[in-house]
Amino acid sequence: MPRAIISPSVLASDFGQLTAECKRMIKGGAEWLHMDVMDGHFVPNITMGKLAEPLVACTISCPPGAPILACVSKGVPGIFMDCHMMVAEPEKWVNDIADAGGALYCFHLEATGDPLSVIKAIRARNMKVGVAISPDTPSTAITDEVANAADMLLVMTVYPGRGGQKFLERCVPKVAELRARFPDKDIEVDGGVGPNTIDVCAHAGSNVIVAGTAIFGAPNPDEVIAKLKASVNT
Ligand code: DX5
Ligand code: ZN
Repeated sequence: MPRAIISPSVLASDFGQLTAECKRMIKGGAEWLHMDVMDGHFVPNITMGKLAEPLVACTISCPPGAPILACVSKGVPGIFMDCHMMVAEPEKWVNDIADAGGALYCFHLEATGDPLSVIKAIRARNMKVGVAISPDTPSTAITDEVANAADMLLVMTVYPGRGGQKFLERCVPKVAELRARFPDKDIEVDGGVGPNTIDVCAHAGSNVIVAGTAIFGAPNPDEVIAKLKASVNT
């Protein structure tokens, strides 16, 4: 199985100190930072600085939209931004996220009829590619062709849209199915993951672990990061 990677979700961080929060996570052992980008279409919430049409123009900049990501990338040298794009038209945001310093662009399979062309656009901007599936999407929806063209597969363990939800254990068998098909691929879990739910995920074969509330809400985030990593490595 590929190496363990811990990717704290900044959605649960103190947005007023975003760069400091990211630095704190890296110092505490996190390899990646998970940036949740929501467009108000694919999911009801918004964490984008710009809105896709046809919603009315909105100039507010809610972390972590592309303008915020650009600030984080500048303020945290060497950061690996794992961008989880909960957006209706994933191809539209590839350039913005690449310009903002995104390292990995993970789009939802449910959001496109042509995943291979989205992957091509992401590759053209030299980002790593992630393909996400929501709780109601079977693992078989990810074809071999799509998976082989991607670097990472994301199995959502909550319905996308907000942090702090309850872990859906019924999603875990999909991790095992994908691990059986793709022994060397990064497989990420996201949603309600923490010390109490990591073991089933790790056992099923997930190696990239997203946790928001469980890490930022802990008195000692470093300990939680270490515990999550140890579970994947055992
Ligand atoms: C949910 C997001 C998650 C979320 C995770 O839509 O994709 O990344 O922030 O937060 P927790 O770990 O609190 O469930
Ligand atoms: Zn996410």
